[in-house]
Amino acid sequence: MTEKDFIPSPYHITVAGGKVTYKSPSNIALVKYWGKKENQIPANPSISFTLDACATTTTISFIKLSSVANEFQFDLYFEGKPKEDFNPKIRTFFKRIVPYMPFLTAYHFTIETSNSFPHSSGIASSASGMSALALCLMEIEKQLNPKIETDYYYKKASFLARLGSGSASRSIEGDIVQWGEHEKTKGSSDLYGIKYPYHVHDIFKKYHDTILLVDKGEKQVSSTVGHNLMHGHPFAGQRFAQAHENLTKLQSVLANGDLDAFIKIVESEALTLHAMMMTSQPYFILMKPQTLEIINRIWAFRKKSGTHVCFTLDAGANVHVLYPEIEKDEVHQFIKNELVTYCQNGQYIHDRIGFGAKKMI
Ligand code: DP6
Repeated sequence: MTEKDFIPSPYHITVAGGKVTYKSPSNIALVKYWGKKENQIPANPSISFTLDACATTTTISFIKLSSVANEFQFDLYFEGKPKEDFNPKIRTFFKRIVPYMPFLTAYHFTIETSNSFPHSSGIASSASGMSALALCLMEIEKQLNPKIETDYYYKKASFLARLGSGSASRSIEGDIVQWGEHEKTKGSSDLYGIKYPYHVHDIFKKYHDTILLVDKGEKQVSSTVGHNLMHGHPFAGQRFAQAHENLTKLQSVLANGDLDAFIKIVESEALTLHAMMMTSQPYFILMKPQTLEIINRIWAFRKKSGTHVCFTLDAGANVHVLYPEIEKDEVHQFIKNELVTYCQNGQYIHDRIGFGAKKMI
């Protein structure tokens, strides 16, 4: 599919107004997206586990305007209160997607959004937030064109979410989602995420992710700025090639359930992501001393216990602790005994692999 396939033909149905709600999860990348081209095209393919507990719920109420507006008409409420700070982000998003969603200038939208996780937790909400918004808009488009088929509906939702935030393209459908063209993955695309299309071993069907909230402060460098620093980065070419290779290796691991091999790929990806940050110009460090303490504790515990607990990181100091269901009790005890002390205000979130966004009404 190409971008053109997402431009709708004129709508023939008139809808005066309505209300739609979606709950969309966050996701955690195993092979990381870091670096992008024009129009939110990723520099390399990435793959993630969809989460369950960390999610955003968004409701859009829409009313047809008497005439087409020059400016987008919307009000935004975050956790029940007007949130002006989000307006520029939404406006930019609408501007980017209006060629694919021409009805955006024909309605007034009231957007009410809230997160399941504390908003001061430092957890990135762009993946769950943008995917929930994209799905609500898709639901409105479906009212204007009821003939839209399910496959197209989800592909376009992911396509739109990607234009809001790259990782959001992986928060629509499925427990494991891949985004970005990869030679060895049929149906993979730079334009949208797809449900991982190959066999997955049972051990990965109930994987856990405990998110340790190490630092809840504002990040010094946003993801968008970080992505841009991959342009002209001395190791960019090798890094992008490595992501392709890691994805290929991960395909066998996901099929055969080899957890030792899984750990090697996932931890290396996390550290490579941060190595790219440390070697860009300007360079920066998002990990905190507690991040490193936690990593060392995980390595020591893994050796001692023979469990398969491992870590990954996103673009921040928080640590995602990954482990299979069968080791849950042992790992929970370890987290309580040894890791909570490194979390800000002792905060952490027990999450697990989830199955994608849900329409609420
Ligand atoms: C480190 O999706 O937040 O979490 O496309 O600029 O919105 P934008 O970036 P974003 O980047 C996420 C980067 C990451 C890795 C990943 O999720 O793959």
